[in-house]
Amino acid sequence: MVDRDQLAASFDTTAKAYEIGRPAYPEAALDWWDEHGAFEPGHAVLDLGAGTGKLTRLLPSHACTLAAVEPLANMRAEFERAVPWVPVHDGTAEAIPFPDDSFDTVVVAQAFHWFDKPRALAEVVRVLRPGGGLGLIWNEDDESKAEWVTAVVAEKRSLAASPVDDDDAVRSALAENGNFAPPESIEIEWTESTTVEGVLANVLSRSYVGSLDPEERLAVLTRVRETLEPVGDGIEFPYSTIVFWAPLVSAAAR
Ligand SMILES: C[S@@+](CC[C@H](N)C(=O)[O-])C[C@H]1O[C@@H](n2cnc3c(N)ncnc32)[C@H](O)[C@@H]1O
Repeated sequence: MVDRDQLAASFDTTAKAYEIGRPAYPEAALDWWDEHGAFEPGHAVLDLGAGTGKLTRLLPSHACTLAAVEPLANMRAEFERAVPWVPVHDGTAEAIPFPDDSFDTVVVAQAFHWFDKPRALAEVVRVLRPGGGLGLIWNEDDESKAEWVTAVVAEKRSLAASPVDDDDAVRSALAENGNFAPPESIEIEWTESTTVEGVLANVLSRSYVGSLDPEERLAVLTRVRETLEPVGDGIEFPYSTIVFWAPLVSAAAR
């Protein structure tokens, strides 16, 4: 049985596949955060659990001072290659390596579900300045759009489900912390152009695929390749992206 820590650590061995295969985030999500004041000129913005910097590279570096935190060395190495204009620090959400009141905005992409939420949110509150806010975002494969997407998703699900948070999990964790207003959220449908190799890298970058033994992993990748044969190489992969914005309302518990 592979436990949660082993799954989280598997990103370290699949960092290259992660960088090749994982999608970006839709511009509309960044615009929506911006409308909520996340990226005011002069703001300090932290990307927490930044991985290879898939979100960090989309943040407005001209207007804001950016920083990233990522616990895994191989992910940080990919980050440094892909996003050399942003400093990436070794650290975790439960022990953010910055002093109190360091940031106006903290964003977390595809990573909040890995955190020990009570400890991580206490840390986010500590590093946020009064008036700051927390943005959360997850891409999900939109299997409603085509049968081949359903088949690829079914292949991933046949192995294991990664522990992604639903709306309730996010809202109750924030409410339990007590320092955030009820979050606003939006859902964005979009597609990203990719190739068969890109989809295979995406599958390989999943924590639970990365933890399989090599033979099992090859069998999964072969089945996904077969599924994609009729689709060809000009793939528009459909995503449904859920985005949250939770402004800080109280400093009482700090
Ligand atoms: C699915 S990846 C997302 C990476 C990146 N944010 C993105 O959007 O592509 C999850 C990331 O969370 C990181 N992570 C897992 N547990 C963490 C923790 N407790 N604190 C900070 N980061 C963590 C992993 O190392 C991994 O890089």
